[in-house]
Amino acid sequence: MNQNTTAQTEELFKKIISHSKEYGFIYPNSEIYDGLSAVYDYGAYGAELKNNIRSYWWQAMTYMHQNIIGIDAAIFMHPTTWKASGHIDAFNDPLIDNKDSKKRYRADVLIEDHLARLQDKINKETEKAKKKFSNFDEELFCTTNLRVKEIKEKINQIEQRFKAALENNDLHEIKQIILDCEIACPISGTRNWTDVRQFNLMFATQLGSISEEANTIYLRPETAQGIFVNFLNVQKTARMKIPFGIAQTGKAFRNEIVARQFIFRMREFEQMEMQFFVRPGNEMQWYEYWKEQRLKWHLALAISSDFYRFKDHIKLAHYANAACDIEFKFPFGFKEIEGIHSRTDFDLSNHEKYSGKKQQYFDTEENKSYTPYVVETSVGLDRLFLAILSVAHKEETVENEIRTVLSLPKELAPIKAAVFPLVKKDGMPEMAQKLWDDLKYIGKVIYEDKDTIGRRYRRQDAIGTPYCVTIDNETSTNETVTIRDRDTMQQERIHISKVFAYIEERTSIRNLLRKL
Ligand code: GAP
Repeated sequence: MNQNTTAQTEELFKKIISHSKEYGFIYPNSEIYDGLSAVYDYGAYGAELKNNIRSYWWQAMTYMHQNIIGIDAAIFMHPTTWKASGHIDAFNDPLIDNKDSKKRYRADVLIEDHLARLQDKINKETEKAKKKFSNFDEELFCTTNLRVKEIKEKINQIEQRFKAALENNDLHEIKQIILDCEIACPISGTRNWTDVRQFNLMFATQLGSISEEANTIYLRPETAQGIFVNFLNVQKTARMKIPFGIAQTGKAFRNEIVARQFIFRMREFEQMEMQFFVRPGNEMQWYEYWKEQRLKWHLALAISSDFYRFKDHIKLAHYANAACDIEFKFPFGFKEIEGIHSRTDFDLSNHEKYSGKKQQYFDTEENKSYTPYVVETSVGLDRLFLAILSVAHKEETVENEIRTVLSLPKELAPIKAAVFPLVKKDGMPEMAQKLWDDLKYIGKVIYEDKDTIGRRYRRQDAIGTPYCVTIDNETSTNETVTIRDRDTMQQERIHISKVFAYIEERTSIRNLLRKL
């Protein structure tokens, strides 16, 4: 990204944040007390949009597959859960402080950002050459251009050292990479770093009134464990046969060291996770299947495929034998939106070990018992929200005025339609109220009779309402209304009896599900 585009994307990101607040999508949490860092509240339109994204995920998982069912487990769990899952011992981030600015950073993120900057340099060189030569061969260019070759080698070296350091949990080496790469604190500009330390991300609290070690419980850092500990309950009561999946959406909590970038990294957030239980040995086949399925789910939102890419994990989590992220091109660059992990039998085996209760499945076809392997898909609802919002937010000049419009997928829009009487007389408000009464079964529909019609349109554009229906002078004579499309701003005149079907057909989540 060159400096110009960086400034533009930063500007866009700031606009998205202020638009979210001004139009009731997202507010900083407890703002009257100056807010709580990295915690946000969803306003009226934000809550609707979030519900719709959640419904799309839930329906895609549980309605579109006979062998996936949903549950809703509690946030609090027996503390041994987190010992068994490995979170007490291994759910850490390496942190480092700059002694001059007193700012704290994730050491791994400092290195990842440095690598991204080097990659940006290559992209810039490539773009320059692309413009210069008509029959440009990117591969040839990257292997022959000395500057690009040099940067590529540098990236390779750093990546190899970084991977080894993460695998060996070598905090000293992580600091050494930061020093060798001459990474400076963005605030103080100095390289005066402390040693790297591990920091556990779980929030602890006390159960009951006595504050003792034994009463310490945790706010779940992932929803997945609520599925694992209920594996046999669900399998037996819903009479599921392997392969089958259990889906769940809900809050998760992490004491993130560096919580920034708005709702991208929060301390309280929502996950939508699905654990798919398979025969041991079949997990890689299902891992590939779920990678493909999940990308398809994202692409059904009609956001360009250029916004998505897969990235294999450099370091596998303690429970995984394969893992990748689906990354999304946020205004601040490509970042993880969803994780797909082959978790082996790690979780079920450990729950069996720590609880002393068998967590095995009897496979009637194979006539034997085994501990199933698990392929997990895990997507952050808030990150999805941000991704969808950032692509939808547009400013365009219409009749010499700036129109801000959220071109959200119509199926997810918080408000499905707005109904306006053109003026507050001649029976128009009554007809509009009656129409609202019909349409309210589609989803949230707004009735509005204040201000000029132009202003009413603009307000609905800014919250992404796909259709505005206006009752006007003709309605009482021929029972027709105008219906205006948010994106094209074109109006068509239809019979009032057709409005329900018109809007319902175009805004139903069914449209997205049919693309899967
Ligand atoms: N059960 C596996 C798991 O939790 P993860 O990669 O740590 O895997 C899955 O998290 C997803 O949860 C991420 O892809 C991201 O979308 C979301 N997520 C994780 N931490 C988050 C945070 N602090 N704020 C917002 N979303 C977060």
